Amino acid sequence: MRQKIVAGNWKMNTTYDEGLQLANAIVKASIYDKKVILIPPFTHLKGVSNIINNKTIFLGAQNCHWEEYGAYTGEISAKMLRSIGVYYVLIGHSERRIHFKETSELLLRKIRTALANELKVIFCCGEPESVRNELKHNEYVKKQLEETIFHLPAQEVKNIIIAYEPIWAIGTGKTATPKQAEEIHAFIRHALSDKFDMTTAESTSILYGGSCKPENAKELFSQPNIDGGLIGGASLKAQEFLSIIDQL
Ligand code: PGA
Repeated sequence: MRQKIVAGNWKMNTTYDEGLQLANAIVKASIYDKKVILIPPFTHLKGVSNIINNKTIFLGAQNCHWEEYGAYTGEISAKMLRSIGVYYVLIGHSERRIHFKETSELLLRKIRTALANELKVIFCCGEPESVRNELKHNEYVKKQLEETIFHLPAQEVKNIIIAYEPIWAIGTGKTATPKQAEEIHAFIRHALSDKFDMTTAESTSILYGGSCKPENAKELFSQPNIDGGLIGGASLKAQEFLSIIDQL
């Protein structure tokens, strides 16, 4: 059985105190049977790591560098993250691909370094609106996978969670319909099975992200190939985030 997960990507939001308050509110809600990953900004990681239990609530980072250390002013490495109790790292988020020009080649280097430092990777993929309108989303996402995680050996893929996040749905309030999301999740799973094997495909969690909120989470999560969500905006309000977790 693959894992069901809800991850909250706080992006560049909350001050340190606000972040700790948010984490505390989530921890206090006593989530016993769901897996939750909190992904705060770098400055909050250590503080949040002191609050969470690492049994049901885990810590993730929003990015890491492709090298372990060196002369890269302003950057944070996978090794540093692991050393403070981070278990997961987001790689390939569309905001990093767009604003920071991160290419598949670079993302693959980051993935390899993260895995080598015992971080699990939440790998994001997803198409822009123009591609969806042309109905070329499957090919587009497949290419994103071919250029990155398909270069890994099958035994490494067990440390990858895939997050399908259509760019047109991120922060827009426009969610993919459960049917649209389920179709592409099934397509991704099929592609994993073709490239690796059935066991790898069946055990990889594929999360949906893009304006997922309390009102639409249940229907999305009830689809057979949707194993949870990567939540942006709604992860910044404890009640909304907890309500989404409840629906997993
Ligand atoms: P959103 O963001 O939930 O605010 O659309 C999702 C994400 O970017 O991970």
